[in-house]
Amino acid sequence: MEAIAPADPISAVTHSDPYPYYRALARSRPFHFDASLKLWVAASAAAVGEVLDHPDGRVRPAAQPVPPALAGSAAGDLFGRLIRMNDGAAHAPLKAIVLRQMAALDLADVRVRAQTLAAALPRVERDDSHEANRWMFTLPVLTLADLLGLPLERDADGHVSTRVAGFVATFAAAMSPLASPADVEAGVAAARWLTQWAGDHATDGDGLLQRLAQAAGEADIDPAALTANAIGLMIQACEATAGLIGNTLVYLGRSGSRDADIDASVDLVARIDPPVQNTRRFMAADATLCGQAVSAGDAVLVLLAAAAHDSTAAVQARPWTFGAGRHGCPGDALARVLAAGTVQALLARDVRPDRLLGSLSYRPSVNARIPNFQPIH
Ligand code: HEM
Repeated sequence: MEAIAPADPISAVTHSDPYPYYRALARSRPFHFDASLKLWVAASAAAVGEVLDHPDGRVRPAAQPVPPALAGSAAGDLFGRLIRMNDGAAHAPLKAIVLRQMAALDLADVRVRAQTLAAALPRVERDDSHEANRWMFTLPVLTLADLLGLPLERDADGHVSTRVAGFVATFAAAMSPLASPADVEAGVAAARWLTQWAGDHATDGDGLLQRLAQAAGEADIDPAALTANAIGLMIQACEATAGLIGNTLVYLGRSGSRDADIDASVDLVARIDPPVQNTRRFMAADATLCGQAVSAGDAVLVLLAAAAHDSTAAVQARPWTFGAGRHGCPGDALARVLAAGTVQALLARDVRPDRLLGSLSYRPSVNARIPNFQPIH
């Protein structure tokens, strides 16, 4: 039976099969105004590329650098300092440092770190779904913390604590427009803890955080901005990578193959069932966008997942899910290694992808497609 088509591009994110809908949008309404969402919608690859490259397209509304629910709290301070959430000259030096250090990462070393940490994560439940949900949200973040040079707690048996990953996921959830007041309150506490923890360790050790801190110190950059962006790397690694892992498990479960090439499967899934389905831009000036007149203050929903399925466009070298242009993801190669490492670790623990598909649903989200595997009883 065919599922009912999504009602709009936001509900498409968590729909069971949004791709026919996205393909139709890219073909017939490549750039249009959605009156009920009050958003322009860019759907074709050409429109998505044009919006992401437009000099007046900003990542936040001019009047609202921080979401109102977070403003004035430790979570708001953290959010407001992220290069991901800022445009303009003030952030350029720090952004250049982060991009340079990210590009210099040794991905073979990342793979080994992920394997080592996986070996220190005990299996806590017999149920495959529970384990998949838990690992998606922990192993990538713990690997990143380890890469940053932050100390992870271990118990007497050598098992690594997943506490840090819990704080990162809690903060990431508080950034969502779907966050409840309780989610925001928890996010503020998490931001406070993470800021203190990363700040305390910015200079001891020889990881990515300490290299970033050194370069930032030489360039006279505010240490608080540096710490926020180091935490930002863990936050960026959290939900999107969880989605890439989950969607790869779904793909493996459906394909039924027992000896699939995991790296190749992750690469394919980043294209065909991408974890980040859309992003937004806010116009800082009146402009012409995709042949239409748009006004300062207008918001554009940029359908990365529709661009990926635009059959008239040439295949991009890099999957659309990682964005493009000035804010394009600097962690794409890292994300693929983290995702492949986590999938491999789950398979090695005898998690069977085909057994995860029982009643597949997706976590509520306006932009990220992350499966929520349900235990089968
Ligand atoms: C599957 C996993 C990931 C996906 C799909 C993804 C996707 C994206 C997208 C779409 C953007 C651009 C948002 C926009 O332009 O509006 C972005 C930005 C960013 N990503 Fe990723 N990301 C992933 C993993 C990671 C990881 C693991 C890291 C780092 C450890 C990372 C670091 C960043 C940073 C720092 C930015 C902001 C760049 C800037 O504003 O200049 N991402 N990511």
